[in-house]
Amino acid sequence: MKKLFIYYSYTGRGDIVAQKMQEKGYDIRKVETVKSLPKSFFWGMMVGGFQAGAKKKAALKEFDQDISNYEEIVIGSPIWNGAFTPAINSVLSLLDLSNKKLSFVFYSGSGEGKKAVKRINKEYPNTPYIFLKDPKKYPEELNKLD
Ligand SMILES: Cc1cc2nc3c(=O)[nH]c(=O)nc-3n(C[C@H](O)[C@H](O)[C@H](O)COP(=O)(O)O)c2cc1C
Repeated sequence: MKKLFIYYSYTGRGDIVAQKMQEKGYDIRKVETVKSLPKSFFWGMMVGGFQAGAKKKAALKEFDQDISNYEEIVIGSPIWNGAFTPAINSVLSLLDLSNKKLSFVFYSGSGEGKKAVKRINKEYPNTPYIFLKDPKKYPEELNKLD
């Protein structure tokens, strides 16, 4: 069964997760946005937090939407303001995941993401998900993926 990990990462934690997924036999597709957040930490949090909270989408750089060869898709996203990131909102709107074995991996500073959980329960019921608390600082969090 072919499996694919599609993910976004703004500050690199997601790349650590992707490495682990690759070791587990997943093909990897990293999503990148055309625009980045404002450089200042404060404005970055404000803008990113607002966009995520409002379920905004982000324009993506070249993104291969052909997932026909894969039976299993895992989506990886940081948590921004408790929610999915705009990049992943775009991915979810572009792909037809209805016939796939789907699951989510989130990485966040707190290891939580309340809006993301609410959304999964509503829009992706019975879809497994997992939260990793800062896998850069706590590499043992990656064991949750085993
Ligand atoms: C705009 C923004 C908003 C964030 N909001 C949250 C949050 O609500 N809760 C949380 O636990 N972490 C939050 N974080 C921290 C990230 O979720 C965490 O650092 C994550 O591991 C980053 O993944 P990345 O390095 O792959 O981008 C936020 C980070 C940014 C940049």
